[in-house]
Amino acid sequence: MIKTVATTPYTDQKMGTAGLRRKSKVVVQPNYVENFMQSIFNVIGNLKGKTFVVGGDGRYYNDIAIQKIIKMAAANGVSRLIIGQNGYMSTPAGSNIILKNKADGGFILSASHNPGGENGDFGIKYSNETGGQIPSAVSDKIYAQTQIVSEYKICDVPDVDLSKIGHQELCGMQIDVIDPVTDYVEMMRGIFDFDAISKLFAAGFTMRFDAMNAVTGPYAKKIFEEILGAPAGSVVNYRPLPDFGGLHPDPNMVYAKDLVNFMFSDQATDFGAANDGDGDRNMILGPKFFVTPSDSLAILTDNFSLIPAYKKGIYGVAKSAATSTAVERVAKEHGIGYYEVPTGWKYFVNLMDSKRITFCGEESFGTGSSHIREKDGIWAVLFWLNIIAAAGKSVEQITREHWQKYGRSYYMRFDFEGVDTAVADKMMADLEAKLPTLSGKTFDNYKVSAAGAFIYNDPVDHSSTKNGLIVRFADGSRIVYRLSGTGSSGATIRVYLERYSQTDLRSDPLKMLTEIFRIAMQISEIPERTGKHQADVIT
Ligand code: G1P
Ligand code: ZN
Repeated sequence: MIKTVATTPYTDQKMGTAGLRRKSKVVVQPNYVENFMQSIFNVIGNLKGKTFVVGGDGRYYNDIAIQKIIKMAAANGVSRLIIGQNGYMSTPAGSNIILKNKADGGFILSASHNPGGENGDFGIKYSNETGGQIPSAVSDKIYAQTQIVSEYKICDVPDVDLSKIGHQELCGMQIDVIDPVTDYVEMMRGIFDFDAISKLFAAGFTMRFDAMNAVTGPYAKKIFEEILGAPAGSVVNYRPLPDFGGLHPDPNMVYAKDLVNFMFSDQATDFGAANDGDGDRNMILGPKFFVTPSDSLAILTDNFSLIPAYKKGIYGVAKSAATSTAVERVAKEHGIGYYEVPTGWKYFVNLMDSKRITFCGEESFGTGSSHIREKDGIWAVLFWLNIIAAAGKSVEQITREHWQKYGRSYYMRFDFEGVDTAVADKMMADLEAKLPTLSGKTFDNYKVSAAGAFIYNDPVDHSSTKNGLIVRFADGSRIVYRLSGTGSSGATIRVYLERYSQTDLRSDPLKMLTEIFRIAMQISEIPERTGKHQADVIT
């Protein structure tokens, strides 16, 4: 039943910040998934005795791609697959299943926070036995393989029924279809004080969780409503849909519009949160109040002792270079290790495995801990609920008291989308050449203290990665420039701005950052080069 099929390479199968991500229209081309998967299997090599975890966020093509992967895994000699029922599994749940079963890796079918559907995006994330996504050295090898792949192996059988939980066999490979929610719920129960959170809801606390018609709906319904007793209807948009019901499942101020409007209305619940397509991102809101992900990381870290699983102490904390420096001050206060890494969760994995860090986060609505090796949306929401329950304070109170103690990093990200790739590359190259000459120069009242590329030397595997450009000012303000590595067409230039104040804690972030924005545009010449005077998305 095993067939070998001839194929020819696609030139565009290079993985970005988090796996392979392309327009659905590209991925549905003949042999597109097959070529990519065969290249991965070729790089792994001997698959006998190996177990992989497979699932996805339920977006368009999830059902078709997963059947191809199952049949190819069997044909390539994989011993066992653990698959989420109906092919569903969130990214954090997948990481947990890999670790819990000591599997050799896993595949999550998702383009994360990118829109889905026939006209949206599709993607494949590949994790290894760490439960985290593979390092760049491995993805480089896979990319090289995609350039020469000439045949793939597939088991020529009808589709596997993934609707029923249980065991089956396919071409000599074992398949276990599991409920992807159960293990995840147990893990969360082992970390947080569910009793305290239940009491909070029993006392009348209200929340709204927007699952954005994506994968976390069933997890959220189970945890927040069924187990913790949040009022029925607290979880909205909880049915995963192939096109996310037309939503752009990116939990931020721009795309989670309904939730944001609701939380800024007089009807707002005490707490608001959302997750992204595959459940690894989170957004936290209080009534008429938004917590930036950078502040959230700092606040969670500062409050580790309120959480049962962390109260005995934590290792250090890490953030991506683009994330604000708020958590650096917390690390200093607690005397724990502090690391700055390139953008992308995979850079946290070595730090977690070597027990250098417990918590980590990115400005892009990602927060997590070493309980798994991916960021974890529901974990962050539960962490906030646990702090609120233990401290008896609101989201806004907790955040304002934090600023009172540590000062406030005003922080925003400006995205310039759909830029011609050549224009964006040239802009970054010219900027990189220019930055070292800016040191000591003053723009308005901002004096540049250092400027150049961000280079990360991994303390564990000693690899070196260059990611983005940073301009640092004498007063602690910063500009970071990066090109996105998750888009599916053209280039997106990201400009991250930060300004710190110890005393001015109640200003409007946009106002506080106006001058730095102007300086960021002047230095980079983005308006002149791209014709864009405004960012397309501001978060
Ligand atoms: C974006 C975010 C980054 C995150 C990644 C995957 O990558 O900026 O922090 O790790 O998505 O969720 P980018 O498009 O900037 O390369
Ligand atoms: Zn995601």
